[in-house]
Amino acid sequence: MTARLLVRDLAQLATPAGSAAPLRGAALRETEVTRDAHVLCEDGRITSAGRMAELGSLDGDVEEVDGRGLSAIPGLVDCHTHACFAGDRVEEFSLRAGGASYEELHARGGGILSTVRASREAGEAGLAEALAEHRRWMVRAGTTTFEAKSGYGLDRETELAQLRVVRAAGGSPTWLGAHAVPPEFADDGADAYVDFLIREVLPDAAEIAEAADVFLERGAFDAEQARRYLTACRDAGLALRLHGDQFTESGAIPLAVELEARSVDHLEATGEAGIAALARSDVVGVLLPASALFLNRPMPPARALVDAGAAVALATDFNPGSAFCESLPLVCSLAATQMSLSPEEALAACTANAAHVLGRADRKGRIARGFDADVVLVGAEDWRHVAYHLGGPVVHTVIAAGRVAWRASA
Ligand code: NIG
Ligand code: FE
Repeated sequence: MTARLLVRDLAQLATPAGSAAPLRGAALRETEVTRDAHVLCEDGRITSAGRMAELGSLDGDVEEVDGRGLSAIPGLVDCHTHACFAGDRVEEFSLRAGGASYEELHARGGGILSTVRASREAGEAGLAEALAEHRRWMVRAGTTTFEAKSGYGLDRETELAQLRVVRAAGGSPTWLGAHAVPPEFADDGADAYVDFLIREVLPDAAEIAEAADVFLERGAFDAEQARRYLTACRDAGLALRLHGDQFTESGAIPLAVELEARSVDHLEATGEAGIAALARSDVVGVLLPASALFLNRPMPPARALVDAGAAVALATDFNPGSAFCESLPLVCSLAATQMSLSPEEALAACTANAAHVLGRADRKGRIARGFDADVVLVGAEDWRHVAYHLGGPVVHTVIAAGRVAWRASA
C-alpha cells in the first residue's frame, strides 16, 4: 500500500528555483515562494507541490499535517560535519575562553588528537552511539541529509570504523585520513603517514567512503602531501574535498581547481586571487561561519565570492573542537548577519548547493516533484524566519523520506 503524507494549507512554500546546481550569481537568490501551498509525499518522494487550489482530489488513506501558520523549506543538507566523534572538548573550550589558541592547543597534543584518543577508546559501538545522539540533535535542527568525516581514528581500524558507522546511519561518509599526524608517526612525520594511509587504508576506505578530504594547513599537511593523498584517492574512485585557507592560504584553492575537487571548505583566510580563481572554476566554496565564530576568527569572504560568481554552500562543520554546533538555521543567521548573504542565498547554499557537493542534487535540496520527500516546516508564516530568528526554535516539524521524523512539542 502506498504511504501518503499531505502537508496542507501552508502559509508559504519556499524552494530554490529551477533545477540547476550548483547555483551561482543571481540564480542563488531566486527562491520560488508559493502562498497557500501543499506538499504531497508518496512512498518517500514528493509527487505534488504547489498551491492548495492545484491539489487534485485524493482517494484512500492519507496522513495529513496541518500547515496553517507554518512555512515549508527543503530538508536541510549539511555537507560538512565531523559528527562521528566520541567525548567532548569542554575543557579545551574553557582554556580557549581564557585566551589559549586553537592552533597552540593542537600543537601541544590537545585539540584534534584528544578526540582521536577518545574515539579510539570508544570503538565502533561507542562511535555509533555517539553519532546516533548527534544525529538526533541534527534532525531537530532540520538536517535531513548529512555528510560526516572520519579523521578521529588516524589508524586503520578506527578510520574504517568511523566510515562504516556514518554509512550505517544513512550519512555520506568522507574519508579524512589526512586530518592530523597521529602520535605513532610523530618521529617519521607526515610523509610517512601519508604513505601509510595510501598503502594500508585507502583500498578499504574507498569501498565505504564517497569522498576524501585533507586538512591542508600549517601544522597539518602541506600542498605536496595533500596532492599525493588526493590523487591516490581520486584514482581509487573517490570525489575530492579539501579543508583549505582556514588559518593561512597554503595553496588549497589552486590544488582544488587542478584536481577538479568537489569543494574547498573554510576559506576564512582567502584573499582576492583565491576568490577569482574559485569563481572561474566548478569547485564549490563551502563556508563554515559557525566555526569562524566559535574560534573567534574572521568570517570567510562570502559576499565577495558570490559577487565574483563562485558557487558557495553553507555547512555547520559540527565537531567538538572548532564548531560545537549542529544547527544549519543558526548558520543561516550567521550568513545573513555576519557575511551579508540574503536569506534566499543562505537557503540555496544549505539545500541545492550542499546537495550538489554531496553528489545528490538530482534528489535532495528542493521541494519539487520527483525529489526525496524531505521537508522542514518552519514555525512562522514567512520562511525567512529560519535565518531571522537567531538561535530560536524555528524548526516546527521535520519530514524525512515522507514521514514525520521530529515535531516540536506544543
Ligand atoms: O574543520 N580544521 C580541521 N578540522 C576541523 C576541526 C576538528 C577538531 O577540532 O576536532 C575543522 O575545523
Ligand atoms: Fe571541518
